[in-house]
Amino acid sequence: MARPKPLVAGNWKMNGLIADLAQIEALKSGLPQPLVVDVMLCLPATLLTAGGGAASGSAVAIGAQDCHGAASGAFTGDISAPMLKDAGASAVILGHSERRSLHGETNRLVRAKGTAALNAGLSIIVCVGETAGERAAGLAASVCLRQLRESLPDASSPANTIIAYEPVWAIGTGVVPTSEQISEIHALLRGLLQERFGAEAACRILYGGSVTPANAESIFENKEVDGALVGGASLKAVSFLAIVAAANRAAQPHTI
Ligand code: PGA
Repeated sequence: MARPKPLVAGNWKMNGLIADLAQIEALKSGLPQPLVVDVMLCLPATLLTAGGGAASGSAVAIGAQDCHGAASGAFTGDISAPMLKDAGASAVILGHSERRSLHGETNRLVRAKGTAALNAGLSIIVCVGETAGERAAGLAASVCLRQLRESLPDASSPANTIIAYEPVWAIGTGVVPTSEQISEIHALLRGLLQERFGAEAACRILYGGSVTPANAESIFENKEVDGALVGGASLKAVSFLAIVAAANRAAQPHTI
């Protein structure tokens, strides 16, 4: 099976003002050449248009962090997928554990949002991951598989859908799973994706949770990992660039 092109996606979460667009300028000018991975920044909705302007002419794609499941309507304060697309996003993160835990998002809701996003022409980055308690109870695999099975919209394909495995206990904690733990869950998720899309379908499975310049190299060495979803370390160009550079080195064809 051909390996998909890796993606390093940053997730700014609820961070970033206009002044922080300077980080995108710095990111643009510091990208490794030749660049053999995809690079994306998922910005708060308020920065999508200006961020797209800052990134224009570069390989940095702009993504969003959530959307509503309807295309428009009386939903005060919500943002629809066509609005995100219109503002310059090409993708949207869905089902992030912060939305699942803090906003009570269910697999069913994530799936509805995914359908809306795909209808609007956005790609989706669907997040799955177990809590520490679920892992301790031996449920990590079953939780992740269930989230994936129930969260993917009918119109998903390897071309428009990216999966991010983000163990909840690794997000923002500085704790990273072992390579074996990442491999085990990624391989299971890949098995499910191949059942659905066919054995040759190369769907990207990112790892997310406390990725930093210090651990990026060992994470990208893992052949089950097709890139990363990076929170805190994506806020500053210098640390995000170091992670992009590590992914780029790992993706270079090996020379003898
Ligand atoms: P973190 O966040 O890199 O700050 O742990 C990752 C994420 O929540 O996507």
